[in-house]
Amino acid sequence: MGQTPEQIIEGQRQDWNRVAGGWEKWDRFFDEQMAFLNHRLVGDARLRAGMSVLDLGSGTGYPALLGAQTVGPNGSVTGLDLAEQMLAAARRKATTLGLTNVTFRTGDVTALPFEADSFDAITSRFCLMFLPEIPKAAAEIARVLKPGAWLAAAVWSAPDKNPYLMIPITVIKQFLDLPPPDPTAPGIFRLAKPGDLAGMLQQAGLTNLFEEEFVADVKFPSGEEYYASVMDIAAPIQNLFAKLSDEQKADARGRIITSANQHRRTDGIALPIAVRMVAGRKPL
Ligand SMILES: C[S@@+](CC[C@H](N)C(=O)[O-])C[C@H]1O[C@@H](n2cnc3c(N)ncnc32)[C@H](O)[C@@H]1O
Repeated sequence: MGQTPEQIIEGQRQDWNRVAGGWEKWDRFFDEQMAFLNHRLVGDARLRAGMSVLDLGSGTGYPALLGAQTVGPNGSVTGLDLAEQMLAAARRKATTLGLTNVTFRTGDVTALPFEADSFDAITSRFCLMFLPEIPKAAAEIARVLKPGAWLAAAVWSAPDKNPYLMIPITVIKQFLDLPPPDPTAPGIFRLAKPGDLAGMLQQAGLTNLFEEEFVADVKFPSGEEYYASVMDIAAPIQNLFAKLSDEQKADARGRIITSANQHRRTDGIALPIAVRMVAGRKPL
């Protein structure tokens, strides 16, 4: 039998709390490699000085921290996430950056603890596909946005265009007899299909829907570094890896590094990613 929404949310909370140390360890590296996505979201959400912004599933502060720098001292950003440990890292980073206009609080995206018409914009990076009830979250987003305000969200696109994520998943599957994934179950690729998230947002009442598959590369100095970082931060991949015996784990590690090395260029390893960027606006 499938899990209830409450069980899925509790699993998410535990999963991301478990990897929070890994996110902090690799923070500088991933900031350098993936900050362009934060800039894209800040642009798509039309952030301007003085705005009040909500960031959903902020984790260790992406894109909430860039949002706070963009809206400036007369604006504010609230970063919401289930996982207290991820938010603790986000708070430490805000302090280091000297940002006093960003606050992080725990909460569930499907039951937003805010009044209707509260925010001038909403951003969200790599969170919405993990929710058990995405249409409910879309309704909540539409409720708390002010009329005329924009949402900008990033979710993962198709597996075959994301070697960065699929290299370890493909290798782990060589050892495990896994049933084919339920396309409606929450997970990394739940919102990969074109029009899926945009359709749910439109159903919830947003207009001016825009979506684009945005392709890029993430660079790593070595296959070993790629293996160590992805295993430290990707909770769903860690969960699959944990099903292997110790011997299989050692074998899988070697195969993952070999696969990553196939993407070697003169200046290191470049692994493709494909991100679905979706934006929409609450009607005036
Ligand atoms: C892959 S991380 C992304 C974090 C950050 N936005 C980034 O891009 O670096 C996914 C985050 O979504 C959060 N999350 C998952 N389900 C959630 C829910 N129902 N409500 C709030 N946050 C949730 C997790 O706790 C986790 O921190």
